[in-house]
Amino acid sequence: MKKLIVVTSSLVFVFGLIVFASAAHDMPGADAKALWNYITKVSPYTSWGFWPNYKGMLKGRAPHGPWHKVYVNKKALNSTAALVQYGAIEVKENYNKSKELKVITVMYKIKGYNPSAGDWFWVKYRLNGKADKFGKPKGCIRCHGVRANNDYITVHEFK
Ligand code: HEC
Repeated sequence: MKKLIVVTSSLVFVFGLIVFASAAHDMPGADAKALWNYITKVSPYTSWGFWPNYKGMLKGRAPHGPWHKVYVNKKALNSTAALVQYGAIEVKENYNKSKELKVITVMYKIKGYNPSAGDWFWVKYRLNGKADKFGKPKGCIRCHGVRANNDYITVHEFK
């Protein structure tokens, strides 16, 4: 009986570990809703870091609005060269002139998603998480595409 309890409880423990481990590594697919859930709940982007030379609130250029902050996750920060690692995410908060947050734009690198344009999944979110544009919007890709040799990233230089 005692043995049975030990065996059962260690099975429960191992099972728990597996569930925990897979949850911790579960990145969303190319899905705007799942990505929003990931960046706001699973791994809140406000707890991520910034590129070393691009910290906090900074002045922006068209079309993204007058002020912005660009948060980057560990996978991005650990990337020392273009191309960045799969799983890299950049979240850009876009503010108006009065520094009120208006729009959130995201780039998420997914293996095999769009090989001809850097495998980025692009999203433009409203503050309630509704995606106004997502996937492979031509506008995002065309403009960021001038930086294709820097893996489509504009605010950080890879050497
Ligand atoms: C006309 C050019 C242009 C278009 C179109 C554009 N961007 Fe950008 N994007 C920029 C520039 C310039 C920056 C650098 C920051 C700034 O000045 O606002 C930037 C920065 C970003 C960043 C910060 C990460 C980085 O370094 O590149 C994200 C994320 C982003 N854009 C997402 C998007 C998404 C999503 C779309 C489409 C819905 C989009 N952008 C469309 C020009 C553009």
